[in-house]
Amino acid sequence: MKLQVCILLIAFTIQSTIARERIFVENGILMMKELSIRRPEDENKLDHPHDAEVWMESVNIAILSANMLSRLSNATKLNVRDGVLSTVEIPVHLENIDLKSCHTNQVLIDFGRGDYKLKVLYVHHNRLQKIPENLNSLKHLKELVLNDNEIESVDLNSFQGLTELRVIALQRNNITSISSRQHKLVPLPSLVDFYLDQNHLTELSFSSLLAESVTTVHFDENRLTMVLGLTSAFPALTTIRLHGNPLDCAWTKYVLEELQSRNVTVADLREGTCLNGTTVERLVPEEKPKLRSVLEARAYRIRGRVFRD
Ligand SMILES: *[C@@H]1O[C@H](CO)[C@@H](O)[C@H](O)[C@H]1NC(C)=O
Ligand SMILES: *[C@@H]1O[C@H](CO)[C@@H](O)[C@H](O)[C@H]1NC(C)=O
Ligand SMILES: *[C@@H]1O[C@H](CO)[C@@H](O)[C@H](O)[C@H]1NC(C)=O
Ligand SMILES: *[C@@H]1O[C@H](CO)[C@@H](O)[C@H](O)[C@H]1NC(C)=O
Repeated sequence: MKLQVCILLIAFTIQSTIARERIFVENGILMMKELSIRRPEDENKLDHPHDAEVWMESVNIAILSANMLSRLSNATKLNVRDGVLSTVEIPVHLENIDLKSCHTNQVLIDFGRGDYKLKVLYVHHNRLQKIPENLNSLKHLKELVLNDNEIESVDLNSFQGLTELRVIALQRNNITSISSRQHKLVPLPSLVDFYLDQNHLTELSFSSLLAESVTTVHFDENRLTMVLGLTSAFPALTTIRLHGNPLDCAWTKYVLEELQSRNVTVADLREGTCLNGTTVERLVPEEKPKLRSVLEARAYRIRGRVFRD
């Protein structure tokens, strides 16, 4: 009797595990929940040639190749949330890919595939250790958002030729260096926002970059002592975020003057500090009420008026 109950329970558990996979359309979006593709015959699950937007949740897929994705032949937009999707190969027809929290460690781009339509590539809260190779085959890419991964270095030449790129977001990775191996100028004429905050950068040099539309750069919370080539790489800068770095005082004071004369806002300047040798100095001297009142009193006296402090 007990054995029968047990078998029933096991059967029920297996049944409900299988039954968790659900594919349906909701609000015009093809929803694929608990989608598992582990054998070639599973790929048939992707035969949905009509839906324009696809949402996958809690997936179990080792490789999602461009050929597999071509079965979603009318799709322009693919969202994946949670589960495991280790490798994704970008197909030519998708315009928008957003992968979050699905353990992705590889994004493949075949430079021979032709005219990629991809405009938006988000691979965030994942396991990428480098910028995808052949990224600059994605000629129409406008947004590259790779925050919260494990990227350790960036070669600016990866972005060479991406003339439509507006956003590069690389915050909260493990980036220690940004280089330009080919020493060739990398013009990014459409770039507006550049996020590099909360990485492990110790030095930044932008001598090979020209990003004349960038208005805001986010370099805060790194280990930077200075940033070289700032004003030539970003001539249209309006805001720079630099706080939470062990900035060198001599460099900072020199650059602050230049930035302020160009009306660039230095965010969180009041709380900012710099390092003069081993001494921490404030970028904006702390207001000392007593001293100020003495100075003010003197100023007031000069103007020949009497004030109460
Ligand atoms: C593809 O999607 C569009 C909506 O974006 C729809 O109008 C069109 O009918 C779809 N094509 C096919 C073949 O289902
Ligand atoms: C990235 O940096 C974090 C925190 O600094 C560290 O815990 C983690 O081990 C690093 N990851 C890699 C892959 O180096
Ligand atoms: C660093 O400290 C020394 C000694 O206090 C001072 O003379 C010098 O002006 C400081 N340099 C900067 C850039 O603040
Ligand atoms: C900075 O702003 C001031 C006041 O708004 C303005 O007079 C000046 O021309 C500006 N300077 C530059 C370089 O834009």
